[in-house]
Amino acid sequence: MRTLKFIVAPALILGLLIGLAALRAADEAPKYTIKEVMKMAHQGGSPLYKRVSSGKGSKEDKKKLVDLYTALAADMPTKGDAESWKDKTSALLDAAKAIEDGKEGATKDLQKAADCKACHTVHKGK
Ligand code: HEC
Repeated sequence: MRTLKFIVAPALILGLLIGLAALRAADEAPKYTIKEVMKMAHQGGSPLYKRVSSGKGSKEDKKKLVDLYTALAADMPTKGDAESWKDKTSALLDAAKAIEDGKEGATKDLQKAADCKACHTVHKGK
C-alpha cells in the first residue's frame, strides 16, 4: 500500500498542475495580435494564405495558417461587432482546417473567406 501511495499522490499532483496550466492557457491573450496575423498570413510577395488557398502550401504552411487564424478568431478588433468578426474569422479558420484535413473544395472556401476589403471595411480602423 505504501508504494501505491507514492504513485498515486504524484499522479494527482501532476494532473492538478496540467489542469491549472490548461486553465491559464485558456485565459491568456491570443498567441498573435491581429497585426501579426496580417503580416504573417496576408502580406508579402507570396503570402502564406495565398500559397495555401492555391493548393501550393506545404504541410508546415497549412499548420501555421491554422495557428494564425486560431489566434485571429480568439481576438477582437477595435472596430465592428463581435458577431461579424466571429463569422468572418471562423470562415477563415474552418477553411484552413479543412485544407489541412485535405477536404476537397476547401481551397475555394479559403479564397472566398480571405476577402481583405470586406473585412477591413467593417473591422479595420477605429
Ligand atoms: C477577418 C477580417 C480580416 C481579413 C479577412 C483580412 N484582414 Fe487585414 N486586418 C484586419 C484588421 C481588423 C486589421 C486592423 C488590425 C489593427 O490595427 O490592430 C487589419 C490590418 C491589416 C494590415 C495592417 C497591419 C498593420 O501592421 O497595421 C494589413 C497590411 C492587412 N490587414 C492586410 C490584409 C490582406 C492583404 C488581407 C487579404 C488577403 C487581409 N488583411 C484580410 C482584418 C482582416
